[in-house]
Amino acid sequence: MDAVLFGATTLRLGGTAMRLQSPHLIAEREHQGRSPQPLQIVCSASGELDLNLPFFRQPIPRALLTTEKGASRWQGATAFDHCWCAGGEAIDWPQAFAHLQASGVQTLAVLGGGQLFASLLEIGAIDELWLTLCPLLLGSAAPSLYPEGNPCSGKLILLNVLPVGNEVYLHYRLSY
Ligand SMILES: NC(=O)c1ccc[n+]([C@@H]2O[C@H](COP(=O)([O-])OP(=O)(O)OC[C@H]3O[C@@H](n4cnc5c(N)ncnc54)[C@H](OP(=O)(O)O)[C@@H]3O)[C@@H](O)[C@H]2O)c1
Repeated sequence: MDAVLFGATTLRLGGTAMRLQSPHLIAEREHQGRSPQPLQIVCSASGELDLNLPFFRQPIPRALLTTEKGASRWQGATAFDHCWCAGGEAIDWPQAFAHLQASGVQTLAVLGGGQLFASLLEIGAIDELWLTLCPLLLGSAAPSLYPEGNPCSGKLILLNVLPVGNEVYLHYRLSY
């Protein structure tokens, strides 16, 4: 992927970006003429992010996708390589995608969490889905993949199943 996108709550709770660690995968990207790490994009309408998070010390390219309100917090700051403003109070997705395209982002992985994923699913912007089935029983405290509750209008078509150890990787295509 050229870039990965994740919600502000995922970053606030995890503290770091999910960067590539495998030397083999990093070498493969470099061989393809890509940057060693995909651009790590945080989506935050509020722009309220703590500069003390380890994320800001990781050796990765960083971008912020935010609103006019959120961008005002980061004026003149150098913590992000890009600060994209799309919309006044809420993210305007067509405008957001135009910023990404203009910066050369053609392939984008949405890493979650559920709120971000749901807003993209609802506008039909997700074309493939990778689900990992893990043997962890978390009960009702588990964060939801799709918390908004509206039934997804897309149809999930199974493309591949890959068992690895105790986990199963499920790869779907979404047809709208
Ligand atoms: N198992 C997994 O693979 C996985 C992956 C990712 C996350 N998670 C878990 O999921 C949980 C977090 O998920 P979540 O659903 O609570 O939050 P989330 O989607 O990570 O983040 C929500 C925040 O992101 C921004 N945001 C998301 N969608 C937006 C939109 N359409 N427009 C504007 N801003 C938007 C807002 O930031 P502001 O508040 O700054 O405006 C919002 O409050 C965590 O527990 C995390 O560990 C699990």
